[in-house]
Amino acid sequence: MTNAPTGQEIVRGFPEGGALLEALAGFPPAYLVGGAVRDALRGAVPVDVDIAVEGEIGSLAWALSDHFGAELLEHERFGTARLAIGGVRVDLARTRSECYAAPGGLPEVAPASIEDDLARRDFTVNAVALPLGDEAGEAIDPFDGRADLVSKTIRVLHPRSFLDDPTRLLRAIRYEVRLDSSMEPQTERLARAAIDGGALGTVSGARLGAELLLLLGEVNFVAALERMVDLGFHERWPGGIDPALCGSAALAALDTGADRVLSALAALLLGLGSGAPSVLEQLELDAGAAHRVRAALRDAPPLAAELRGDAKPSEIFVSLDGVSPEGMALALALGAAPEPLLSYLASLQYATLEISGDDLRAAGIAPSPAIGAALRATLLAKLDGLLDGREAELAAAIELARGGAA
Ligand code: CTP
Repeated sequence: MTNAPTGQEIVRGFPEGGALLEALAGFPPAYLVGGAVRDALRGAVPVDVDIAVEGEIGSLAWALSDHFGAELLEHERFGTARLAIGGVRVDLARTRSECYAAPGGLPEVAPASIEDDLARRDFTVNAVALPLGDEAGEAIDPFDGRADLVSKTIRVLHPRSFLDDPTRLLRAIRYEVRLDSSMEPQTERLARAAIDGGALGTVSGARLGAELLLLLGEVNFVAALERMVDLGFHERWPGGIDPALCGSAALAALDTGADRVLSALAALLLGLGSGAPSVLEQLELDAGAAHRVRAALRDAPPLAAELRGDAKPSEIFVSLDGVSPEGMALALALGAAPEPLLSYLASLQYATLEISGDDLRAAGIAPSPAIGAALRATLLAKLDGLLDGREAELAAAIELARGGAA
């Protein structure tokens, strides 16, 4: 690959990149690795910086933290550290070898050379290192990752790769779709064998959940889900995977203001029927995200069934009040009539009365839950065009409150 950028050139392209390179001087040899190398070599803009250091990283991490005033997160077990420099995420890791005591578990790690560090990685295109200590530093590319980048090939480094780390099954699909690439035939055979053999069952739900969110976050994630079906994930997912439904939910998320990844995830889990909440729990999403997906799974199917195109505004309001944007997106994907939903989002949800509980109390209604119920019933009547103006609202609300509107 002629005219390929060097590691220093790539790092200088980041904010504070020049200062970062200067700050690395005097420490053990450092290499740019992983996604930044892959993306820069294919002419894309890298988003974050992974630096592998052939030696102890603690003092370097603290020096960078001091120099850039950046908060430092360290992970002792893996000899890694993370900090933000110039708004860019920088991961430092001591070069290491990995040994998997049990398939799907976390590896035992030991300090090792950069070559060993590349050999523990997922795919050849992610196993290229560019030295950062030398302006013209030659790429270290023991598995011909650069050639695979050019030929758009996703290739594992050794036959046990998917068994050691089955999250790589999802990663391989993600890279196929993102890099417009294909698994090399032997890699695909290994992937199919790992899936058939139940490899995914050996990984923690949390790690699978994280990879699944990344996959659903790809622009072309529907193609990734189709590929999952093609490779046999479908048979391991009770109820099956419905890529079109997930795609529709993500698309509808644009209309409802929902998170498109969580909407797609809810659609993916829906196929599991009554098993969905427990699988969702196993994925260990953060509490807020899990709550939104759970609510969508609960609200969308009845909403899709009950929301009619000719529903009155008050009926639309009652059906949709309190439903999350993800629930609405999933309901649309399930075939809910779009007109009522869009009219709720455009106007009904903002409807208010000109009166408040204070007006009812001023009219002599004793404070009680009947006031809230009367106001809501008045609002529904207003939505259906039965009341016009403040006086009409007040009269209706007083009557409802005195009559004990429920
Ligand atoms: N890696 C691996 N096996 C995994 C996860 C990561 O070998 N299960 C290695 C790969 O070399 C990868 C690097 O660690 O390139 C960094 O991982 P990550 O940040 O997840 O991916 P990126 O390559 O940065 O790419 P992206 O986030 O764009 O997928």
